[in-house]
Amino acid sequence: MKRVGVLTSGGDAPGMNACVRAVVRSAASRKIEVVGIRRGYTGLIGGDMISLGPKRVGHILERGGTFLDSSRCPEMKTPEGLEKAVNMLRSERIEGLITIGGDGTFRAAAALAKMGGVKVVGIPGTIDNDVYGTDYTIGFDTAINTALQSIDKIRDTADSLEMLFFVEVMGRTRGFIALAVGVAGGASEIIIPETETNTLALAQRLQKRFLKRGGQQSALIIVAEGNTPGGAQAIAKMVGEIMKVDYRVVLLGHVQRGGSPTARDRILASKLGIAAVNTLREGKHGCMVGEIGSEIVYTPLEDTWTKVKELDASLLRMPHILTI
Ligand code: F6P
Repeated sequence: MKRVGVLTSGGDAPGMNACVRAVVRSAASRKIEVVGIRRGYTGLIGGDMISLGPKRVGHILERGGTFLDSSRCPEMKTPEGLEKAVNMLRSERIEGLITIGGDGTFRAAAALAKMGGVKVVGIPGTIDNDVYGTDYTIGFDTAINTALQSIDKIRDTADSLEMLFFVEVMGRTRGFIALAVGVAGGASEIIIPETETNTLALAQRLQKRFLKRGGQQSALIIVAEGNTPGGAQAIAKMVGEIMKVDYRVVLLGHVQRGGSPTARDRILASKLGIAAVNTLREGKHGCMVGEIGSEIVYTPLEDTWTKVKELDASLLRMPHILTI
């Protein structure tokens, strides 16, 4: 393999830059040329590309976001878009394509692979951690630490005001972020899409806690954004009305996606970037490289979104054991 392309697609995630750096430098050490495709699949279709050498990726390791830029590209879901992408790869003589992103990125990568002509390898990069075939996705560790910094601050004011605080965190359709920050932030309740939410029972549990502790107390309730239509706002309103108490809602939003990656994300990104290049060199493709335990594992692209990654069920029970 002489020339590979690399792109970042979908929601950016801290550590994507570290991953591109690892791809470029490990490829260079094997005399493989790397083309950076800008703005995800949009840039692939439009031919927006730059040549990437080892120096060009200096001082990006510590930067959040993705210096290649990213996009969500509806055109890649159409046969015309796919054909344009394949033709572009051919005309640019790109033999292998490394795509860094989440399930949307891998769906498009699998469709490209099916059309033939290019060997595709995926790397999981999304703050959501909702990709089957890897313990952690690049960006998750940074996102939960970023969210936690805010949650710790919210607790200060929640305690001082003796008030209920509903904090909504990202995660689209899955509760990985909510579960992690809920346990790490000492939340009383964690509300995630994977389990049914009974607002009456939730209100009763919170009420019981109030009574046990002699009146109004603070409580942190972490809500995954994908839980109900209306998210934390809707749940807070229902619970507030049942309990007849004042409450506040905080939406952490996109702050969770930014910032310099943690050491853990930089290490994972570096490992997976190198692994993706090795995978292509060894002639393997049509798969995602991930890490399970401390082993590099290869998962067929299609499995990454058709198979369901399980949550750590022990974390779910923790708030009820650990909150007094
Ligand atoms: O997939 C990453 C993510 O940050 C989700 O957690 C969130 O639901 C979504 O992206 C937000 O997307 P956008 O930035 O397009 O609003």
